[in-house]
Amino acid sequence: MLIRKPAMAAGPPMSLRLRVLVAIALVVALGAMSGGAFAGWLARQTLHDELTAAMTGGGQTVARALEALPGADAQGDLVRLTRTFDGNRHVIATLRSGDGAVVEVSRPPPATHPAPHWFAMLLDPGLTPARFAAPAGTSVVLAPAPQNDVADAWLQFGDALIVLGIVGAAAALLVYVTIGRALAPLRELTAAFGRVGSGDYAARVSETGPAELVRLTRSFNGMAADLEAMRHRTRVLEEQILKLEDEERAELARDLHDEIGPRLFAVSIDVAMLGQSLAGDDPREAGRLVQAIQASVTATQRQVRDILSRLRPAQLVELGLCAAIVELANFWRGRRPDIVFSVDLTVEDAGLPEVVQEAVYRIIQEALSNAVRHGQPSRIEISVRQDEAGGGVVAQVRDDGLGRAAPRNPPGFGLIGMRERIEAIGGALSAGPGSPRGWSVTASAPIAPLLASAEAAS
Ligand SMILES: Nc1ncnc2c1ncn2[C@@H]1O[C@H](COP(=O)(O)OP(=O)(O)O)[C@@H](O)[C@H]1O
Ligand SMILES: [Mg+2]
Repeated sequence: MLIRKPAMAAGPPMSLRLRVLVAIALVVALGAMSGGAFAGWLARQTLHDELTAAMTGGGQTVARALEALPGADAQGDLVRLTRTFDGNRHVIATLRSGDGAVVEVSRPPPATHPAPHWFAMLLDPGLTPARFAAPAGTSVVLAPAPQNDVADAWLQFGDALIVLGIVGAAAALLVYVTIGRALAPLRELTAAFGRVGSGDYAARVSETGPAELVRLTRSFNGMAADLEAMRHRTRVLEEQILKLEDEERAELARDLHDEIGPRLFAVSIDVAMLGQSLAGDDPREAGRLVQAIQASVTATQRQVRDILSRLRPAQLVELGLCAAIVELANFWRGRRPDIVFSVDLTVEDAGLPEVVQEAVYRIIQEALSNAVRHGQPSRIEISVRQDEAGGGVVAQVRDDGLGRAAPRNPPGFGLIGMRERIEAIGGALSAGPGSPRGWSVTASAPIAPLLASAEAAS
């Protein structure tokens, strides 16, 4: 058998648990990325709107204040105006002198958790400062100040990451435990397969767990039960073979003792008498004795042939199936002249693979001896023909006897043996009482696949 090994370079395959965990991690990461991108886009949009509104409001305040100028202390007013922006979250006001030097700057509220530069860059809405010309060459510049909102967003971003991490870890833990429990039957199954592999067909697994695994464990249990039953049948058959061998030996001994023995004894007496007749010069008596001896020897030869025909279906190879079946019928005709044997053979030996010939011969042999032993029939019909489709052969033995005779105790193995034989070559057997009476055994076997495999083998 060819067993393909996994490629060494690939390493051990990833466990199901790990696969699911990786998938979850990917989903969480993907979710975090797209959610983060969307939240960032929203935050940037909001920041843009807020800063624009603050800049506009601030601009109006500055414009109005500048209109009210100049007062007695224009410079002082401008400094005060700039200071009104102290604590403003969104706008920083700067008062510059004519040469560009900073005279006064408003103080924004302290930023508690400054965001990293890259984060600030991502959220920066990109607004430009607005410059308002004031008397004496000075100017008031309003600049957008996103830092405070960016710092808030950075805090929220951190919180969201922590929550996501906790949820992800909880999901992973849940999956880890759930899959571990769901796969527990697989561990049991693996152990059971190991036991079956080492010949312990009594191994069974509990049919619990997820539905898919229950189907699997159920199939496993069915398979193990089949294997167990098969092994039992094999044992029974082995016993049967041994028993049959003993029975055949006993039968052979009986035949030799009962049939051949008396004939040889008769021949030896005839020979002794022949000696006396020759000495007494009685040629007529001598002639009669020679004829008697001749007849005994011929009968003995026939009997030896009969015995051989039962012993060796190797005769099949010499005679072919049809001739061997005819011999078989003749054997029983000789022993049971009260029964009519009809033989109907419409197949060509040449078209039948050897395994089919052997199986058919053995089945007919057993069915015939069953009919004679159990059925008390007056007629037995043997037929071998092509099946209707022409792709197989059908052998049948029918008798008109009692039908179901009381089974022997212990029961014999003839029927089991017939079934095993025909199933071994892909065929099927049916046996049982016939209608309206008698008993009928039908064996059918395919030919084409066997011929093909025989050809391939040669
Ligand atoms: N032709 C038949 N007529 C009646 N009963 C039969 C016939 N063939 C088989 N049986 C029944 O089937 C039983 C099983 O047959 P088999 O397996 O060959 O065992 P065995 O012949 O050793 O009893 C027989 O004991 C008998 O009861
Ligand atoms: Mg039998």
